[in-house]
Amino acid sequence: MTPKTFKIKSFGCQMNVYDGERMAELLGAHGMNAAAEGEDADLVVLNTCHIREKAADKAYSDIGRLRRDDGSKPLIALAGCVAQAEGAEAMRRSQMIDLVVGPQVYHRLPEMVAEAFRGARPVDTDMPAISKFDAMPVRRRANPSSFLTIQEGCDKFCTYCVVPYTRGAEISRPWGDILTEAHALVDAGAREIVLLGQNVNAWTDGNRGLADLIHVLAKIDGLERIRYTTSHPADMTEELIAAHGEVEKLMPYLHLPVQSGSNSILKAMNRSHTAETYLAIVDKMRVARPDIALSGDFIVGFPGETEEDFQATLKIVDVVRYASAYSFKYSPRPGTPAATMEDQIPRDIMDDRLQRLQARINQHQLAFNLSKVGADSSVLIERRGKLRGQMIGRSPWLQSVHVETCAELGEIVDVTLVAAGPNSMTGAERQKVAA
Ligand code: SAH
Ligand code: SF4
Ligand code: F3S
Repeated sequence: MTPKTFKIKSFGCQMNVYDGERMAELLGAHGMNAAAEGEDADLVVLNTCHIREKAADKAYSDIGRLRRDDGSKPLIALAGCVAQAEGAEAMRRSQMIDLVVGPQVYHRLPEMVAEAFRGARPVDTDMPAISKFDAMPVRRRANPSSFLTIQEGCDKFCTYCVVPYTRGAEISRPWGDILTEAHALVDAGAREIVLLGQNVNAWTDGNRGLADLIHVLAKIDGLERIRYTTSHPADMTEELIAAHGEVEKLMPYLHLPVQSGSNSILKAMNRSHTAETYLAIVDKMRVARPDIALSGDFIVGFPGETEEDFQATLKIVDVVRYASAYSFKYSPRPGTPAATMEDQIPRDIMDDRLQRLQARINQHQLAFNLSKVGADSSVLIERRGKLRGQMIGRSPWLQSVHVETCAELGEIVDVTLVAAGPNSMTGAERQKVAA
């Protein structure tokens, strides 16, 4: 009996979530069904992340746990960035893995599953010129807020980062394919589309850039909100900044990682910006869209980081007043230049800096949320809350908002934001005024 049911577990970034959805659709098109919640699956796909050591280790500890009480196990596919980074080596690390498929070739998953079922242990981590997307079924299911990958890979080679190795060179999906997929998602019920790319703002078709794409997507009836992530400061064009003031459907939120506030660390990281050029972009964004919510990523404890460097990071957090931000301890990744740099920072110093940075970020996040109390806002309902009648959605600024409402998933309700916490808001639905 060939595998009938599958389960896909995605880790890491939103692009992995998107890839997981596409793999599910593909397996579905080949006659397999998603296993019900809590039920065993014949095939488990671990769609992994390699960004930090912990993330990569998680893949292997998860594999170990897939053995059933009776000693049997499902067919196990290792996908995602660990698969790409380790290839056949992964098979040696864990005898339980039946196939290894990289992020650029997952259109081959069904045939590889068939091979693995016959006892082979296929490995494919190619990065072919032909797009896997061409082999994907048309999208028929959507979430109220749906992901759409438009760009993949990275040419930036920040010295700490594995992505250029696991995801390959920057490529942009063709304009027409993106529009077709966007229409399919909206037809299937999406109200918001989040355009994704490791460097989404590097998207280009040779003549046009992300700003042009956003202007055209905004014309799709039924699509109410557009977001994009993640952006690199180097690709933040004037047109894209201006679009934030011109396109109503483009939400006032920008994730623009800076990583550090210290210019010498930024240089060692091979980030192409300085604190000053980064802040200049922030200023322009605030002119184009005064209420923009800014978000970012930070790494503490990069090799050679001094207390003074770290103070510069705290300072840039204060200057930007991030509405939210992610911060990580530097994790040396095999094969990256930073892994062999001198002056690796001891763990206790990293722990201490991470704590201080997170405390500072949390202050600004709460301040941002408090600044919205009393504001009228819209909320796209995305899931049910724990309490009866309670629904949870997102404000334009990407805050999580709890609201009591009869509205269903996918509806956009008008609320007044009445209370703020560090991580979420409470909204009170406003009565619809008859026209
Ligand atoms: N392309 C995006 C995101 C890349 S990965 C960008 O350039 O912003 C997401 C985040 O993980 C990065 O922004 C960085 O903050 C963090 N990260 C990447 N490599 C890391 C490493 N080796 N150690 C710790 N954090 C890392
Ligand atoms: Fe990694 Fe830098 Fe590329 Fe982002 S821009 S994916 S951090 S190499
Ligand atoms: Fe992780 Fe790969 Fe995304 S390493 S962050 S899953 S691109």
